[in-house]
This record gives sequence, structure tokens and C-alpha cells, in this order.
Amino acid sequence: MFVSDALGVNELDHLTIGGADAVELAGTYGTPLYVMDEDLIRKNARAFRGSVERHYGGKGHVAFASKAFCCKEICRIMQEEGLWLDVVSGGELYTALAAGFPAEHIFFHGNNKSVEELAEALDKNVGRIVVDHFFEMELLSQLAQAAGKTVDIQMRIKPGVEAHTHKFIQTGQIDSKFGFALETGEALEGIRTALSLPNLRLRGLHCHIGSQIFEITSFTVAARVMLGLAAQAKSELDWTMEELNLGGGFGIKYLTEHSHAPYEDFMEAVSRTIGDTCRQMNLPLPCIIIEPGRSIVGSAGITLYQIGAIKEIPGIRTYLSVDGGMADNPRYALYQSEYEMLLAGRATAPKTGAYTVAGRCCESGDLLGKEIPLPKPRVGEVLAVLATGAYNYSMASNYNRLPKPAVVMVRDGKARVVVRRETYEDVASHDV
Ligand SMILES: Cc1ncc(COP(=O)(O)O)c(C=O)c1O
Repeated sequence: MFVSDALGVNELDHLTIGGADAVELAGTYGTPLYVMDEDLIRKNARAFRGSVERHYGGKGHVAFASKAFCCKEICRIMQEEGLWLDVVSGGELYTALAAGFPAEHIFFHGNNKSVEELAEALDKNVGRIVVDHFFEMELLSQLAQAAGKTVDIQMRIKPGVEAHTHKFIQTGQIDSKFGFALETGEALEGIRTALSLPNLRLRGLHCHIGSQIFEITSFTVAARVMLGLAAQAKSELDWTMEELNLGGGFGIKYLTEHSHAPYEDFMEAVSRTIGDTCRQMNLPLPCIIIEPGRSIVGSAGITLYQIGAIKEIPGIRTYLSVDGGMADNPRYALYQSEYEMLLAGRATAPKTGAYTVAGRCCESGDLLGKEIPLPKPRVGEVLAVLATGAYNYSMASNYNRLPKPAVVMVRDGKARVVVRRETYEDVASHDV
């Protein structure tokens, strides 16, 4: 009935998430409010982990891409579920370590890590640093020498695979700010350099071909391309790739008409491709790493807003304003991302009209969606935007000095705050 398994309807016709009444949650914790279903997050994490066990003999790791949703509690949950973590900044690294996440299970990504971030990663013995370019490689080698350590690295490669997704989130092609290009020979040159620099131990290669991808073939093609590079490096540089990191990017259902293959099928196809290709190319089977973010948390979250002004412009459209917007969910403004919405207090009421949902920022582009089918809304009702668990809280800003909403985690119908709502004092706390 809904885009996510986390959702249901109770006898009051109220939307439920993780068994809790969404209208009650909005009343108790205020709006805007992010709500996450913990069981669905855990189920998704286990599905990915289980698929590596079943299809790849357990020779691999699933690292949750914390950029999708980063707070201490999600790090604890991922650790409990046996996942590793992908971080992309000193802030994400700090959060993971502060939550007690083991440093050796962390991959540190980023196209422009600072000296301080690299030094911190070295100091804390982060599991792998995923090196993005020559400059970083040399810098890391120098820092590792100064620290008297040898650091395990992977190299980010642009495999030139076109993923079927929005162009802003394609990252595997040559015109991308991330990684070493394959076509130009830069990737092989990068491997040569990594092998020549002191205090670096090149463990494997990484690629991330994009996000919100439904086509399993995009990943199998990328895997073959990466193994081709590994075979070339083996014959020309006598280097054996121990680890193949295929990144994340698995699509989720934002709209009823979306559908994706079970994540299990992805691992089955990729495992078969890697096995066959390694045999053909006479390569040892690498340890596989995948880095799902959106697909673990996206469908598990909703955002609740209170409806304020409803402005009908005859013959044009009706604007329905809510008490949040681009500051808590910039994805429509960034990529015109589509979401399904409903009135949390009349979850199954017929959708008789179409409304443009506007945020409260001083920006015409501050919309959450255009022409959204809804029952005729009333001021004060709770609007639920569905499938907002990924890249919403983590992309939130304080534009217009709006405090960031709280995040509530629900399990077995019981809710707990995992990120408290910001106050005006929080927002102004760094002003001097
Ligand atoms: C290196 C890397 N790994 C994993 C991810 C997670 O992608 P997704 O949330 O689409 O699974 C990203 C997203 O940008 C990424 O850049």
C-alpha cells in the first residue's frame, strides 16, 4: 500500500511507522520531525550482510555509507549488525569514533581530505584510506612516514561506467571530480605510484558508479572493468588486488511505480561476474566490499510537518506551506527528487486534489514537491513525506537560521530521540 514496509495504518486511519502513530509522534516531539524505523534499518543491513555470506562465501564486508544518515546511534546500530562504516569527512569520522565504532572497520573517503583529516585517520588507525588522487597519495605517504606507520589504502577509480540515474549523481564517468580515470591510463599510473611510495600498502581498488541505480548490470559491468584493471596491474606491475570495493548506489522505492530487484539479487549477480571474470583472467578472488547508504536507511524514514498557510492561485496552483522545507530536505531543490506524501491523520483518505508543497525558507525554489496528490488539507494537519531516511537529515542546513529537527527512532511501537532538536541557542552558539 505504501512505498515502504515501515509504514501502516491504525484503526484511527493514522499513518504508523514502526508500529507508532505518526500523529502522536508529531504531537509528542514537535514538527518538523524525522522518524526512522529501526527494525527496517536492521533488516536492510542484515539483508546486505547475509547476501555476502550466501553468494560470496562471506569473503567481504558491507560498509554503511554514513553520509546517507550520520549520527552516533546509527553507528552503534551498524556495529551491532556487523557492518563496517564509510566516512567521508573528519566530522563523520569523529561521530563514528565518539560512538565507539572500531576504527579498523572504517573506510575513509573523500576527494579533498585535509592534512588534519588524514593525520587524524592515521592517528586513530582507520582501516582503509581510499585515496582519490596523486597529491593525496604523496601527502599520505609523507604523513605516514612522519608517524612511523604503514597505512592500508584503496584507490578510487573512475571506471567510465554510465549508471542509469540522475546526471548529478553519476560519479563513475570521466568528467567527475572523484578518483583516477581509467581511460587515460591515470589509474594504472596511480597504482604504480602507490606501489613506489613508502609507508603505503595498496590493498585494493574502489569505484562508486552513482546513486539510486536500479540496473544490476551497471554493477556487473563495473566489476568486470575493475577486474580488467587489476589484471593489467598484475601483469605489468606484479601487483595483486586483494580487495575490490564496488561502492554503493542501490536504488530505493521513492514512488509507488518504482521497483528494484531484491538486494540479494545484486550480490548474486556480482558474485557470479567476479567469480567468472577472475577465472578467465587468472586472478585470485578478491575480498569484496560494498557501501550501501540510501538502501539501508532511505525507506526507513519519514518526515512529519505541520501544514500552515494554504494559498490557492486560481488557474495556476495551490501552495501548501509546511513548517520545514529545503533546510531539512534539500533534495527537491537540488535534483527535483520526487516523494510521495500523505496526511498522517487521514492516511487512506482519497486524494482529491494536487498541491505544491512549499517550505518556509525565503527562497522560491524551496519546495518539497509539485502537484502532489493529497486529500483536501486543513491548516494544522500533519503532512508525512515518505522515504526520507537518506540524505535528508544528513544534508540539512540552518538556512534562515532554522534549527534542525529532532530524529526519533521507533522500534516495536516505542519511540526514542536519537538526535535532539536544535534550539535557537544551538544555532547561534558559535557566533562571537
Ligand atoms: C564512495 C561512496 N560509497 C557509497 C556511497 C553511498 O551511495 P548510496 O547511498 O547511493 O548507496 C556513496 C554516495 O555518494 C559514495 O560516494
